[in-house]
Amino acid sequence: MDTTPPGPRPLAWGRHYVAVEPTHFRVDYAINPFMDPADQPDPQLALRQWHALVRTLERLGARVDVVPQRADAPDMVFAMNLGLVVERPDGRRHVVLSHMRHPERRMETASARRWFEHRGATTSSVGRDGVGAHLEAGDAFAFGGELVVGHGPRTDELALKHLATDLGVTVRGLRTTHPGMYHLDLAFCPLDARRAIVCPAALDAESAALLLDLVPEPLVVSEEEALTTFCANSVVVGRTVVMPACPERVRARLEAWGFDVVVVDVSQFHKAGGSVRCLTNPVDVRLGRDLAPAP
Ligand code: ARG
Repeated sequence: MDTTPPGPRPLAWGRHYVAVEPTHFRVDYAINPFMDPADQPDPQLALRQWHALVRTLERLGARVDVVPQRADAPDMVFAMNLGLVVERPDGRRHVVLSHMRHPERRMETASARRWFEHRGATTSSVGRDGVGAHLEAGDAFAFGGELVVGHGPRTDELALKHLATDLGVTVRGLRTTHPGMYHLDLAFCPLDARRAIVCPAALDAESAALLLDLVPEPLVVSEEEALTTFCANSVVVGRTVVMPACPERVRARLEAWGFDVVVVDVSQFHKAGGSVRCLTNPVDVRLGRDLAPAP
């Protein structure tokens, strides 16, 4: 007999975020297939869309701490890539700072380090200034007690070893092969303890099979759905999925599972290849609760 409860079993994390207010958001260079410096975002509209996203998260009961944007770092609005933040059992935060693949974004890390350290967090890096392994935190997720990390376009496979050692957790690597889904968060979105949005087309065959194995109840989206709607680049607050767009089929599945869907238009940020999840970085993933100690 199936005793699985029908409703969501909400994630314990996802109720506290950092985000970067887009006061200097531009497309100055092209480091992913979505970016074209000839097609600039509207700065006023971007700011309005960002504030609407923050208000939505707050209305759902989440806290959002705002990091100021550096004038020389147009992509810093994608706060998810500042670093991987975990809460230790003693309540103190640790940030594994990103070591960006592209030099255009590397200066963001220095600001992130100062901001987090000033608020009592400890920090570490897997590499820095172009030397050592690359890690971009948009590739990393807590799911099923393990750290699930994409590698390929941005994060180096070697970074996964550093993460496992530094944090004392089990790390599952997934090889990303799709140039348009260059961070795992464009293809994967944990929804609750058993469910996640998954786009297998982002990964090589072996990793796609592994991901479908890791998620007891996957909501599979096509390459086209993921790339044109950014629907996997969503965040979940309790039972509510905050999405940039939601194809009808996806909405029907989410609602049948007992989730609410809230759509927030962040179209201006799609011009730089990022959406709802990229604009936010959860700081309440707890070691020992959401990430089990490695055996
Ligand atoms: N323009 C940014 C980059 O290419 C977009 C980052 C999107 N962030 C994310 N977490 N997927 O780095």
